Amino acid sequence: MSGFDKGWLTLREPVDQAARSPTLLSALSYHLAAVKSPRALLDIGCGTGSTWRSLHAFLPKDIEWRLLDYDPELLAEAKRRIGAQARVRFHRHDLNDLDGLPLDGIAVVTASAFFDLCSESFCRRLVARLRDVRSGLYAALTYDGHMQWSVPHLLDPMAVEDFNLHQRSDKGLGAALGPDATATLRSLFEEAGFRIQIAESPWRMGQGYAPMQEAFLQGFVQPLTEIGRLSEAEIKEWLAFRIDAIAKPESSCVVGHLDLLALPG
Ligand SMILES: C[S@@+](CC[C@H](N)C(=O)[O-])C[C@H]1O[C@@H](n2cnc3c(N)ncnc32)[C@H](O)[C@@H]1O
Repeated sequence: MSGFDKGWLTLREPVDQAARSPTLLSALSYHLAAVKSPRALLDIGCGTGSTWRSLHAFLPKDIEWRLLDYDPELLAEAKRRIGAQARVRFHRHDLNDLDGLPLDGIAVVTASAFFDLCSESFCRRLVARLRDVRSGLYAALTYDGHMQWSVPHLLDPMAVEDFNLHQRSDKGLGAALGPDATATLRSLFEEAGFRIQIAESPWRMGQGYAPMQEAFLQGFVQPLTEIGRLSEAEIKEWLAFRIDAIAKPESSCVVGHLDLLALPG
């Protein structure tokens, strides 16, 4: 099971919404307006439905949505929050079974905060399937490995390095690409002859986002401990400094993400 916590996904949603590249959203909307058929989107790793909430108002009204995840609790929450909508259907499916992915009638597969969890072989197999059925991919908010705090601490570079190393461990879809995911997708889609656009979509967290920043920082403890280069005392000291710094008026944190749109050539 994914272990993605509803509370965490709820905290990050407004930051994600503000971060998405408007240029790529417009390009997706423009593409869908021009496509006569098929007229459906498939959101993979949908969680509680953040992609739908962020996108549907910007896209043509007749677009059908399929939301897919393997976590029954997150899917139930997505259904509860989206409510009865004629144009939205939900699928419980493990993406390890890519052959069984319901791609019939899908113009574009969408995903948010998902591809850094995936392995190269998963991406390769997915791109091959998308090429075969001539579907596009909108992959938003893929972590790119960069973080910057306006109030620095000596251990920031090592903490980020260890966090990034941990991002490459297996999250259930093979050894994860972590920060390399967008570059890998780009080269796979280039080989497959797709048109590709990539834009930055960084989280910019200032004073309004204290609970999100704190939850994000707490999420470092397990990875840093598992990597084991920093001692328990160093991790504790770094975390306490970072959490204290959130309240400083000059404090902000930028976390790099990338959005990618790949459309069949
Ligand atoms: C970081 S969350 C992102 C959720 C949502 N897209 C969002 O932006 O809030 C990653 C999602 O991928 C789903 N996921 C991870 N591995 C999966 C798999 N093998 N099959 C289906 N869904 C998976 C998780 O359950 C989780 O909902």
